[in-house]
This record gives sequence, C-alpha cells and structure tokens, in this order.
Amino acid sequence: MEKRIYILNGPNLNLLGKRQPEIYGHETLADVVAACAKVAGEVPVRDAQSNHEGGLVELIHEAREDGLGIVLNAGAYTHTSVAILDALNTFEGPVMEVHISNVHQRESFRHHSYISARADGIIVGCGTQGYELAVQRILRMTGQG
Ligand code: DQA
Repeated sequence: MEKRIYILNGPNLNLLGKRQPEIYGHETLADVVAACAKVAGEVPVRDAQSNHEGGLVELIHEAREDGLGIVLNAGAYTHTSVAILDALNTFEGPVMEVHISNVHQRESFRHHSYISARADGIIVGCGTQGYELAVQRILRMTGQG
C-alpha cells in the first residue's frame, strides 16, 4: 500500500486566513496543503481538518493503516487532550507537531502541550511555513528526502 503523509488540523484551523490574521497570517488551509504537497513531491498527502477531538482521534487511527508520518496542528486540543496523545502513541511513524504562532510568547495555558510527549519534532512560530518544514522533516526521517 502506498504510504501518505497525513496533514491533520484541529479546531478553528478551517478558518485559517480569516481567523486572527495578525496571529495566523493570510494563507488559507488550502494554500498550506498545496504547499505541503509540493514539498512532498512524489509522496502523496492526505489532509483533513476536524473541529472535534474524536474526529482527530479517528484520523490518527486511519493513519495507522497507511501513514508515512503525521504533521499535526491540534489547535487548542494541544493543550487539553490526553485522548489525542493516546491515539498518537498507537502510531508508529514520525509525528511532527506544528503551531503557526509562537505559543511560548502567548498566554501561559498555551505553554503546555500533551502532544509534545510523543512528537519527534516540534515547530512553533514559523508561520504556515512550519507545515512545509514538518513535511521535509518526515521525508528526511523516512529516508525519502
Ligand atoms: C495553534 C496555537 C494554539 O494555542 C491555538 O489554540 C490554535 C492554533 C497555532 O497554530 O499557533 O488553534 O495551534
């Protein structure tokens, strides 16, 4: 089965480009996915966004089947979700955690991430370019780039 790089986004990231552009920029999620696909080249990407915690858990379960690696911006669930951490712990490939903004310069409740305990790498504060860097890292870690 051909493996895919999963680009998973959590709550409110469907509004990327419209939502607080002073923090998250003007690019849309479709722009981000297109840029990731370009970086991934021959390797297919599977992108999905969910505003629901269980939806993200199910997408991570799907990645167990054919995920080469996971790029995950879990949005606010980053700071609250043991269920997403548990799901990631069932996945064997590389996991890259991405945050568009520098969460460490923001409110203290954004400083802790449950996902970081599982993530192989973390990219924060690089804007939407962080997703491309994460794809690049997965390619490198899996010997494809
Ligand atoms: C975010 C940071 C989170 O704290 C926030 O809840 C988001 C987006 C980021 O990409 O900077 O929804 O993950």
